[in-house]
Amino acid sequence: MGLLKSFFTNCVHPQGRMGRAMLRFMNFCHAPLTNWGLGLIEFRDGWTMLDIGCGGGATLTRLLKRSKDSKVYGIDISQESVEKARKFNAEWLDKQVFVSQGSAEKLPYENELFDLVTAVETVYFWPNLPDCMQEVRRVLKSGGRFAILVEVVDSDSKWNDLCEGMTAYPPEQLKKMLDEAGFVNIEIHRMKPSNAAIIGVKP
Ligand SMILES: C[S@@+](CC[C@H](N)C(=O)[O-])C[C@H]1O[C@@H](n2cnc3c(N)ncnc32)[C@H](O)[C@@H]1O
Repeated sequence: MGLLKSFFTNCVHPQGRMGRAMLRFMNFCHAPLTNWGLGLIEFRDGWTMLDIGCGGGATLTRLLKRSKDSKVYGIDISQESVEKARKFNAEWLDKQVFVSQGSAEKLPYENELFDLVTAVETVYFWPNLPDCMQEVRRVLKSGGRFAILVEVVDSDSKWNDLCEGMTAYPPEQLKKMLDEAGFVNIEIHRMKPSNAAIIGVKP
């Protein structure tokens, strides 16, 4: 595998030194997409929230700052991501921020726990996305929101070749999947042609 491809494969499952570098880079470079996407949501105080595929943990901090007295959970399949997200949120760790290793396919949380679930630049890598969406629906409270934020929206994007195991979905396809998973009031927002937020509500 070429060096470039091996570096970008750390988007899928950050590991080792290159994985740590990628996590630092993503914490910084996903800020515009994440801040824009979170700005579309009307936050309330005291929320319980989950960020799936939390990577280096910057989204956990961003969520925490938008809802006073909130609890924020992060989960990621990569141990490297979990360690980085814990360090990044050391100040609030195990008090308001809780980070676990695990997959979107089987979330280790009780039914109807969360007011908001976010997924930033990660659904491309989830195996069996429709089943993962059902799992998100299970852990959301009625009226809770699932916000998917993506920067790659073409199914034939070059990123699919650069990152092994990546599938980019057009926002309309993600909307249809959310609809089929039982979400309602699904909206697509766009910041620029390539940045999209797809937000659905659990009835
Ligand atoms: C491109 S990074 C994005 C990280 C972070 N959300 C951000 O915006 O910086 C994708 C993350 O999704 C995680 N991931 C991939 N497959 C996953 C799965 N099935 N369940 C949970 N996390 C997963 C990866 O380990 C990686 O940390």
